[in-house]
Amino acid sequence: MMTRIWMILSLCLWIFITSYRSNAVQSDIDCLRSIKQSLQDPENLLSSWDFSNSTEGFICRFTGVECWHPDESRVLNIYLSDMGLKGQFPLGLKNCTSLTGLDLSSNKLEGSLPANMSDIVGYITSLDLSSNNFVGEIPGTIGNCSFLNVLRLNNNHFTGQIPGQLGALKRMKEFSVANNGLTGQVPFFGNFTPSASSYAGNPGLCGGPLSPCEDTKKNNSGLIIGNTL
Ligand SMILES: *[C@@H]1O[C@H](CO)[C@@H](O)[C@H](O)[C@H]1NC(C)=O
Ligand SMILES: *[C@@H]1O[C@H](CO)[C@@H](O)[C@H](O)[C@H]1NC(C)=O
Ligand SMILES: *[C@@H]1O[C@H](CO)[C@@H](O)[C@H](O)[C@H]1NC(C)=O
Ligand SMILES: *[C@@H]1O[C@H](CO)[C@@H](O)[C@H](O)[C@H]1NC(C)=O
Ligand SMILES: *[C@@H]1O[C@H](CO)[C@@H](O)[C@H](O)[C@H]1NC(C)=O
Repeated sequence: MMTRIWMILSLCLWIFITSYRSNAVQSDIDCLRSIKQSLQDPENLLSSWDFSNSTEGFICRFTGVECWHPDESRVLNIYLSDMGLKGQFPLGLKNCTSLTGLDLSSNKLEGSLPANMSDIVGYITSLDLSSNNFVGEIPGTIGNCSFLNVLRLNNNHFTGQIPGQLGALKRMKEFSVANNGLTGQVPFFGNFTPSASSYAGNPGLCGGPLSPCEDTKKNNSGLIIGNTL
C-alpha cells in the first residue's frame, strides 16, 4: 500500500518537474532568439547563437550566455559587452525569467529604456548598460527591481531627473550615472551613499555628495541678502 502511494507521488512529482523544466526552457530559448533578432550584430560575434541544434542546454554554449546548470537551458547571466551591437533595449528579455545579470555595456545601443523595466528584468541583481547611446529619462520602475545591487548607466545620453524611486533599492552597493545629461536632486539610498564620481559629468545634478540643490541655495542667498540689509 505504502509503496503504491509512494510510486504515485513520485510520478506526480516527476511530471511536475519535467513540465516545469520544459516550460522554463522554452521561454529562455524564445528569449535569446528574440534578443538575437532585435539586435544588429555587424561584427557577427553572435554567430554561435545557432538555434538549429536544440539538444538540452544548447543555448548554454552560446557566446556570453551563462546558465544555472550547463545542461539545462535556463539563463542565469547574459554578458554581451563590447561587441559592436546596435539596436534598442531588447524587450524579449522578459522571457529570460531566471535572469540575474545583464551586461550590455560598451555597445551602440540607442533609444530610450522601456518604461516597464521591472516587468522585463524584475529579478535582476546586476544591470550594466554603461557606454551606449541610450537617451531619454531613466525609468522609475527600475526602483521596483528590488534585488538590484549593481546599476551602471554611466556614459549614455540620459536626461531629466534621476527618479527618486531608485532610493527604494535597499541592496544597492554600486551605482553610476556619470557622464549623462541628468539634472536635479540625486536619490537618497538610505545607508548607501554613492561617491561624487558616480554622478560626475552631469552639471545639472545636485544634492547628496554634490553641492546642495537650487532651492536651498536660493534660500541661503536670500538669507545673505537679508543679512546685508
Ligand atoms: C548538437 O549539439 C550537441 C552538443 O554540442 C552535439 O553533441 C550534437 O552532436 C549536436 N547535434 C547535431 C545534429 O549537430
Ligand atoms: C515570449 O515568448 C512567447 C512565446 O513563447 C512569445 O509569444 C512572446 O512574444 C515573447 N515575449 C516577448 C516579450 O518577446
Ligand atoms: C513593455 O512596454 C513595451 C512598450 O514600450 C511593450 O511593447 C511591452 O509589451 C511591455 N512589456 C511588458 C512585459 O509589459
Ligand atoms: C512598483 O511598485 C509600487 C509599490 O510596490 C507599485 O505601486 C507599482 O505599481 C509598481 N510599478 C510597476 C511598474 O511595477
Ligand atoms: C529657508 O530658510 C528659512 C530660514 O532659515 C527656513 O525657515 C525655511 O524653512 C527655508 N526654506 C526652505 C525651502 O528650505
